[in-house]
Amino acid sequence: MSTIAAFYGGKSILITGATGFLGKVLMEKLFRTSPDLKVIYILVRPKAGQTLQQRVFQILDSKGWVDNINGPNGIIIATGKGFLRAIKATPMAVADVIPVDTVVNLMLAVGWYTAVHRPKSTLVYHITSGNMNPCNWHKMGVQVLATFEKIPFERPFRRPNANFTSNSFTSQYWNAVSHRAPAIIYDCYLRLTGRKPRMTKLMNRLLRTVSMLEYFINRSWEWSTYNTEMLMSELSPEDQRVFNFDVRQLNWLEYIENYVLGVKKYLLKEDMAGIPKAKQRLKRLRNIHYLFNTALFLIAWRLLIARSQMARNVWFFIVSFCYKFLSYFRASSTLKV
Ligand SMILES: NC(=O)c1ccc[n+]([C@@H]2O[C@H](COP(=O)([O-])OP(=O)(O)OC[C@H]3O[C@@H](n4cnc5c(N)ncnc54)[C@H](OP(=O)(O)O)[C@@H]3O)[C@@H](O)[C@H]2O)c1
Repeated sequence: MSTIAAFYGGKSILITGATGFLGKVLMEKLFRTSPDLKVIYILVRPKAGQTLQQRVFQILDSKGWVDNINGPNGIIIATGKGFLRAIKATPMAVADVIPVDTVVNLMLAVGWYTAVHRPKSTLVYHITSGNMNPCNWHKMGVQVLATFEKIPFERPFRRPNANFTSNSFTSQYWNAVSHRAPAIIYDCYLRLTGRKPRMTKLMNRLLRTVSMLEYFINRSWEWSTYNTEMLMSELSPEDQRVFNFDVRQLNWLEYIENYVLGVKKYLLKEDMAGIPKAKQRLKRLRNIHYLFNTALFLIAWRLLIARSQMARNVWFFIVSFCYKFLSYFRASSTLKV
């Protein structure tokens, strides 16, 4: 039996912020691991037209923990749906992301340790991944894209992409070309088909939200995890299993896949049976993307050739080189026969 789970048995616990992201996960973990808890008191206020009773029932009814589009959830949706394709972030900076379950496990372990061992000073426990199991933004982006190939969201606006740059000029270029221009084009289409334009407004709001993260995602942060590691060593093997907060065991790809699955199932309420169709749509979007880029390149090149002798010379050199190469290849294969 877990010592920590047993410690919470028979206790009365007050949780503030129980309607929030962390509070709900904390409550769920307590219910699951310490079923003989005496009582949980929660601090709740009426909000957004809901009475506090309605809010409490809503928490108790919610099946999954992914139930809002704040923070990383919103970014995952915006990326998977192809709205957000580039972010101003230093690619090699550490993405100090931490799973909520890990945070909650540490909180419960700290509660137990503080009550039982009564440390003389106030200990601060940092739970971060950066110094134990670092993953930078570039690697995170690659893994998120690989996951969207496997588990795509339905009806994406564009093909998902995840570019990171710390260069302001490149970032502004991407914002103009990859975000604002497609939004304006889509709004024109909505207007022409008699519908209300909405994409530009949505895009501006999304870019404003992402820009608030810039200070943090363009730097790497160092945190001392000394107390957290000390606490880990105090836990029995069973507690280390049930209240695991050892981020070294975290497999980022597996974590990202589970995260995307959770968002797809609990937040977007998409059916898993629709994955093959979503994959086909992604393929179509990829072909459209290549076709569009090729057409754009040919138009730009044609314009350049019309104006510059140098471009014409380069073009004729490339064409004659390809022709010679193909003739040589054809001649050598004829000889072999
Ligand atoms: N999530 C993260 O990634 C993260 C990371 C680092 C630190 N933290 C910290 O962890 C804490 C919880 O985070 P969270 O993500 O769970 O936040 P959250 O989802 O926004 O939840 C906040 C909770 O606090 C309650 N609350 C806020 N103001 C209140 C007030 N004036 N009176 C009573 N209750 C109030 C909210 O109640 P209502 O629902 O009624 O508004 C809600 O239950 C915060 O201090 C946050 O800064 C979170």
